[in-house]
Amino acid sequence: MPAKHERRLRVGVLGAGQIAQAAHFESCTKAANADLFAICDIADDLRERMAITHGAEKTYGDYDRMLADPEIDAVIIATADAFHVPASLRALQAGKHVLCEKPVGLTVEECLELKSAVEQSGKVFQVGHMKRFDAGLQAAKSFIADEMGDMIALKAWYCDSTHRYPMTDAVQPLIVTSAHAKKPSANPKADLRRYYMLAHGCHLIDTARYFAGDIVAVQARLSERAGIWCWFVDVEFASGTLGHLDLTVQVRMDWHEGFQIYGKNGSVIGKTYNPWYYKTSEVDIFREADGATHRVLGADGHFYRRQVEGFARTILDGTPMEGADVDDGLASVRAMVAIARSAETGKPVALADVTGGV
Ligand SMILES: NC(=O)c1ccc[n+]([C@@H]2O[C@H](COP(=O)([O-])OP(=O)(O)OC[C@H]3O[C@@H](n4cnc5c(N)ncnc54)[C@H](O)[C@@H]3O)[C@@H](O)[C@H]2O)c1
Repeated sequence: MPAKHERRLRVGVLGAGQIAQAAHFESCTKAANADLFAICDIADDLRERMAITHGAEKTYGDYDRMLADPEIDAVIIATADAFHVPASLRALQAGKHVLCEKPVGLTVEECLELKSAVEQSGKVFQVGHMKRFDAGLQAAKSFIADEMGDMIALKAWYCDSTHRYPMTDAVQPLIVTSAHAKKPSANPKADLRRYYMLAHGCHLIDTARYFAGDIVAVQARLSERAGIWCWFVDVEFASGTLGHLDLTVQVRMDWHEGFQIYGKNGSVIGKTYNPWYYKTSEVDIFREADGATHRVLGADGHFYRRQVEGFARTILDGTPMEGADVDDGLASVRAMVAIARSAETGKPVALADVTGGV
């Protein structure tokens, strides 16, 4: 691993659940410019075990006590979706920078409240859309910005697989659970249509927006047959690019995620792996100028660690935000709500008009 820098961000992680154990604790300990300084979880057994495993200096059972610690610069919010906005607001009030897991919130209204709090705070606020730290996607983004010219069309797909859990169980650490963990009042998985959109749809939308910019309106169709939820979405981008998104859970095949982009001076085709393999997307960039295809290797595929390092760079070095900001998080929530409303009504829905949640 690259050596630790002298100046490092001291991070407190809220939540010692699945994503913290599989990604954030290790990301902070490996990051060159950050440290896992504290862990906060209401579940004593989980918190203390994770602190020993990952070597956190401090632990807190109470979030407000962690926020009052002057030695902590920033927090990662790794809790269930329902707690993202309340926990982010409290962190900003306490003067901490925030990296909040996706989706940033559940409703348009709470995201708007968060956006205004972020703007007033002057703190760095990043959303955990870690795919923006995939070197393959970053290479595509640079080509689009510098060489490709007009983007004519974008197709993107994100298809979770029936074989997902045997695959992730094989490569993730054993996830420790606790009967004392804090859960939202309603089980998020009670409504799978909503859960799949929030858990997976926000990744697909963020990838599309990362490449093609703002989405103005969507027209969606949803098929729910044979235990497969399949959304086909026509997307109107502000740029005039034609867009199509395919969110399908659960496909009867391997994990299937990727994109195709057609531009004036070239095209891009990308294949993205299940994130837990930490493998950079295979992205083929074809340049019309020399008639050749280029693919970056991206040997460092640890998107979650790269995400923490990018967050720390923005705070410590004042570099521009490399990840998704609060506007990106809000736009993703608006798009998910618009897709849900469009699928229900069969009509196109403008993102500017949506209220409420998925
Ligand atoms: N970016 C990704 O690839 C990715 C992958 C999986 C999950 N996620 C996101 O990560 C988030 C967390 O998911 P998870 O499965 O790890 O959740 P989880 O419920 O397993 O863990 C959350 C932990 O936070 C603790 N907690 C919650 N509120 C607390 C509070 N106020 N004070 C103290 N402790 C508190 C709970 O006790 C629990 O242990 C979700 O929003 C999910 O969408 C992201």
